Amino acid sequence: MSILRGMNVLVTGGAGYIGSHTVIELLNAKHDAIMIDNFSNSDPEVMFRIAKITGQKPKIYDGDVQDKTLLNKIFQENRIDAVIHLAGLKSVGESVKEPLAYYRNNIDCTLSLLEVLKENSVRQLIFSSSATVYGQPEALPLTETSRVGIGITNPYGRTKYMIEEILNDLLVSDPEWAIISLRYFNPIGAHESGLIGENPKDIPNNLLPYISQVAVGKLDKLKVFGNDYDTPDGTGVRDYIHVVDLAKGHVAALEQFKASDKVDVFNLGTGKGSSVMDVIQAYEKACGKTIPYEVVGRRPGDIASYYADVSKATAELNWQAQKTLEEACADSWRWQSKNPDGYAK
Ligand code: NAD
Ligand code: UD1
Repeated sequence: MSILRGMNVLVTGGAGYIGSHTVIELLNAKHDAIMIDNFSNSDPEVMFRIAKITGQKPKIYDGDVQDKTLLNKIFQENRIDAVIHLAGLKSVGESVKEPLAYYRNNIDCTLSLLEVLKENSVRQLIFSSSATVYGQPEALPLTETSRVGIGITNPYGRTKYMIEEILNDLLVSDPEWAIISLRYFNPIGAHESGLIGENPKDIPNNLLPYISQVAVGKLDKLKVFGNDYDTPDGTGVRDYIHVVDLAKGHVAALEQFKASDKVDVFNLGTGKGSSVMDVIQAYEKACGKTIPYEVVGRRPGDIASYYADVSKATAELNWQAQKTLEEACADSWRWQSKNPDGYAK
C-alpha cells in the first residue's frame, strides 16, 4: 500500500530538533515535506537553515496541531500521503510540574490529528514514541515485545504510552490504518553542517546538551547523577543515537507501511550502551577541552541502564544506525561552537 518514492509527508513539530533533521532526510530522499509547528519549543530561523542545507524551502504552517480547522485547511491545500507526528512537549521535569499541560497538549494534538486524518481518508501515520514506554526494564536489551507501561516515572512518558494505546485501539476498530510507532532511544548530535541542532530554551535536562553548554562555557560543570549504579563504571548507561541516523529511520519507516490491526513498533537506537563517563570522554575528544564534572546523588526516576535490540528495524526497515558516539559529539560540538546561543542571533 505504500508509495515507494515521492510521498507528500506532513511533519508535525517539524521545526523542532528531530523534526528539522527528519525534514532534511525526507527531502534528500526525494519526498516532499509540509510542516506544522507552533514554535512553542523551536525557532523560525530553522526554516532558513533547512533551505540553506537542502536548497529547498518546505511549506510551513505556523499553528497548533490541536487546531482541527487549521489541520483541515492543510489537508485541503495539499495532497498528503502520510504524516510523521512529532509535535509534543518533551521535558520530563516540566511534565511533573505541569501534568495537565502535558496531557492536554500531547494527547489532544494526537486526537485532533487522528480525527482530521480520518475525515480526509489519510491513514498512514508514524508516531514519535520513546524508550521511556518500557519503564523499568525486566531484561536488556529492550526488544519491541518487552513489557511496556510499568514503572514509567513521569507524565511525559505516560503520554507516550497512552498514545500508543490509543493508536492500538484505533487499529482494532479500523484495520485500514497503517501506523508505525518509533521508540527513540537517546537522540544526540546535530547535522554535520553545524547549521541545525538541539536548541534548549532553558538549562538543559539531558546529558548531551548540558555537556555541550559546559564545553562552550555557558555552564560551569556537569553534575554526574550517581556513580554507584550496577554498570561497568557505576554511571548510567544509555543508547545514544545520532539524530541524522534517527531521521533516516523515519524515511525507512515511511517506505514500509503495512495495514494491520496492531501498531508496528520499532526501536530506533544503536544497540550499544554508553555510560556518562564514556560520553564525557567522547565529548572531550571532540572539543579538545576538559569537561569539568562532579559526581552528585542519583536523579529521582533514573534507570541504571537501557539500550535497544535493533534487530527488528535492521531486518524489516533495512535500516541501521551508522554514526558513532564520537561522530555525534563532534557534530554536536560543531553546532554548539558555531551557535553558542542556538538560533538566537
Ligand atoms: P522539540 O521540542 O525540539 O520538537 C517538538 C516540536 O513540536 C517543537 O518545534 C514544538 O514547537 C512543536 N510543538 C509542540 N506542541 C505543539 C503543538 N501543540 N502544535 C504545534 N507544534 C507543537 O523536541 P524533539 O526532541 O524534536 O522531539 C520530537 C518528538 O520526539 C517529541 O514528540 C518527543 O516527545 C519525541 N521524543 C524525543 C526524544 C528526545 O530525546 N529528543 C526522545 C524520545 C521521543
Ligand atoms: C531522559 C528522560 C526520558 C526521556 C529522555 C530523552 C528522565 C528521568 N528521563 O532520559 O524520559 O525520554 O531523557 O529526552 O529524565 N545525566 C547526568 N547529568 C546530567 C544529565 C544526565 O549525569 O546533567 C545522566 C543521567 O543520569 C543518565 C544519562 O546521563 O544516566 C542520560 O540522561 P538524559 O540525557 O537525561 O536521558 P535519560 O535519562 O535517558
